[in-house]
Amino acid sequence: MNIKKMVALVATGALAASLALFGCSSGDGQDSGAKDDKAAGNESGYTLVNDGKLTVAASLDFPPFENLNGDTPEGFEVELMGLLAEEMGLEINYLPSTKFDTIVPLIQTGGKADVGVSGITITDERLDQVDFTDAVCDVNQSITVLKDSGVTDVAQLEGKKVGAQTGTTGYEWAAENIKDVEMVGFDEMTAVFLALQSGQIDAIAVDLPVANYYVKTAYTDCQVIKEIPTGEQYAIAVSKDSPELTKALNTALKAVRENGKYDELAAKWLQ
Ligand code: ARG
Repeated sequence: MNIKKMVALVATGALAASLALFGCSSGDGQDSGAKDDKAAGNESGYTLVNDGKLTVAASLDFPPFENLNGDTPEGFEVELMGLLAEEMGLEINYLPSTKFDTIVPLIQTGGKADVGVSGITITDERLDQVDFTDAVCDVNQSITVLKDSGVTDVAQLEGKKVGAQTGTTGYEWAAENIKDVEMVGFDEMTAVFLALQSGQIDAIAVDLPVANYYVKTAYTDCQVIKEIPTGEQYAIAVSKDSPELTKALNTALKAVRENGKYDELAAKWLQ
């Protein structure tokens, strides 16, 4: 092993150790945590980064939820946000793809995007930083390996290298639950799969629908060997300063669940 690689692994190890200190919890998905009801100065009760537009920050590497088709965002959550914006009489505006672990801090700071939508699991830690809408989706974690690896169970990954997107619940789960694991963090989901193919890591921890999608469509030499029942819920992240926006999103979400459009989208993207 060369020095550069060793330094990188040591740094990743330190990150794994610091992340391992945090627990992962899925929350109940219903509490938006909104306390402050003061109107923000227009009819709707909320202000937006750009008038008339719902500006979205996302890591566009998470199909079937959000991905890039050329330059165009697509996926279940992308279309869902389109429907919610329509209900709210707004246009939708996706910012260029943003590194996943910067999205919650970006929403917390404010000024750049109104919402973070990125298969973001509601966790206690994140609830300290932002509010969440009602849940938009339920998911579990999973473990993926190369088909010819002979690995059929999580126990076989003891002391091995497991890759995940940095700052995700998959990373935390693996760091906390696989004995003596050596975690390797990546910015982008595709980089994690490429690392598995090249032998840099032995397994991937990522949300099950995403693993299934990538294995089916692109990384056909990989297979999902395990579903991990973490019982996570995705929701839209909103600044704690915009409780009225959270409320309006929840109203719109309820409407698209009731008018059948949510189910149409789920049938299109999540089968
Ligand atoms: N659900 C996981 C989490 O909240 C992973 C989300 C990753 N999202 C993405 N667009 N890459 O940590």
